[in-house]
Amino acid sequence: MSLSRRSFLQQASLAACLSLKKSALADSLSVSDLDPNTLRPWVDPLPIPEAVQSVGQRPDPDDPSRNLPFYRMTMREMQLKLHRDLPLTRVWGFNHSSPGPIFETRSGRGLLVEWANELPLKHFLPIDHTIDGAGASVPEVRSVIHLHGGKTPAASDGYPEDWFVPGQSRAYHYPNRQDASLLFYHDHAMGINRLNIYAGLQGLFLIRDETEDSLNLPKGKYEIPLLLCDRFLLTDGQLNYPVSPNPKAPWVPEIYGNAMLVNGKLFPYLEVEPRLYRFRVLNGANTRFFRLSVEHNSGDASELHVIGSDQGLLSAPATEKRILLAPAERTDFVVDFSPFAGQNLLLTTDGFELMQFRVANSKPSALALPQTLRPVPRTPESQAIRTRRLTLDEVMDPVQQSMGMMLNRTPWHAPVTEKPVIDTTEIWELINLTEDTHPIHLHLVRFQLLERRPFDVFLYQDKAEMRYVGPPRPILPVEAGWKDTVRAESGEVTRIIVKFEGYTGRYVWHCHILEHEDKEMMRPYEVVAAQSHG
Ligand code: C2O
Ligand code: CU
Ligand code: CU
Repeated sequence: MSLSRRSFLQQASLAACLSLKKSALADSLSVSDLDPNTLRPWVDPLPIPEAVQSVGQRPDPDDPSRNLPFYRMTMREMQLKLHRDLPLTRVWGFNHSSPGPIFETRSGRGLLVEWANELPLKHFLPIDHTIDGAGASVPEVRSVIHLHGGKTPAASDGYPEDWFVPGQSRAYHYPNRQDASLLFYHDHAMGINRLNIYAGLQGLFLIRDETEDSLNLPKGKYEIPLLLCDRFLLTDGQLNYPVSPNPKAPWVPEIYGNAMLVNGKLFPYLEVEPRLYRFRVLNGANTRFFRLSVEHNSGDASELHVIGSDQGLLSAPATEKRILLAPAERTDFVVDFSPFAGQNLLLTTDGFELMQFRVANSKPSALALPQTLRPVPRTPESQAIRTRRLTLDEVMDPVQQSMGMMLNRTPWHAPVTEKPVIDTTEIWELINLTEDTHPIHLHLVRFQLLERRPFDVFLYQDKAEMRYVGPPRPILPVEAGWKDTVRAESGEVTRIIVKFEGYTGRYVWHCHILEHEDKEMMRPYEVVAAQSHG
């Protein structure tokens, strides 16, 4: 019943897209949707994002007697080659690339970044002016950068309404007082976040620490960062963002592109040696969930030794053949190419081929992975001083078309309702009343997944009464580490335990499907000092 509604909607919007496309086609002669399978795969080497270089030193805002490295990151429009046989593509990136260059720092080593907006004054993707914060009276091109997963003071966190326009910049302070992990920076501008990120405004940020150093994991050219995302392209190489049938309100609830970019390239290859490699992977897609596997000739999936998730290392490696990764989730896994000397392997997701590994025909080197990584003590439920029940809702119009999603039935602009006290622990129960899985992200903090449990959705909608209809689902080892983004599945209560540490101030929590986030599936929350709770 519910499924048929969604597939009807998908067909309806697909038909609308097709008819719009036809009229656009009439003016521009030969431009149409690109079928990426018409391109020759594995002709471009995998680009490795270049390291950001500091441009000087500035006083540490926490202790002006010390200096911190200072970086300047410029958002610009640029023309990049996504594939050897495609014309240049207009994208937005940082300095000279999209995804932007990669930061690398150490735990506790702070840094300062000036984010400069030198983008054009007009957006090239379809803004929906009916969306909150993106009205016709605000500038079209706005940006603000957030470091996802960063334990960052509120003033540097990139609050969605703190956007600034071309010609302006903001200096942010990242103290990095947190464990080694893969974070990422991305645009967070109110109402157009999905478009700015789709245009290319994202990049990776690595924090190292001594625990990680002591484990002897593959490093240098044996540690490969991978930023994955999907896009739609036109035959002239340009990005295409789908639109609804209503030109006044072009927002669409989700997008699943058919062109898979890995570090900004379509179908790249990587030459590897027959040994262990470590992959640091981010799902940077707007909507798409990746189900990653590494397949060898016979179509069999290799073993992936998962060693980390969003907020760093797991307690021990967990072996999987497939890794599910929602938007903004990260995984850290090791692949042993030593049995495959002379062969080609593929990184795939749901039948799409993302990239090729060419294993050299040289002498394999057998290396071992450590048996244990970093202790991840479970936070006991008894530590929580409060439990919040928060619903995930889809809002329908009278003809059952999605009007967007919400958190706890509360729009963005309503007063702040979640005010945890600094240094206290809470349990958040994410009650998913919708038909989708939503990757829910909280800024500032790391948390642990307690359980997911199916419940009676209709009873809850009717009477706000919670009745579980099955036992809690066990947590898989790959989700047992520290997280900052968690998949809340349809018809389930996802319980997380969070300690609000680091800084007081105004932050946000939201769904990381960017189409949902932009359409009200985001709320402010505020970490308050002990004496002033609400
Ligand atoms: Cu990737 Cu508000 O975050
Ligand atoms: Cu974040
Ligand atoms: Cu969502």
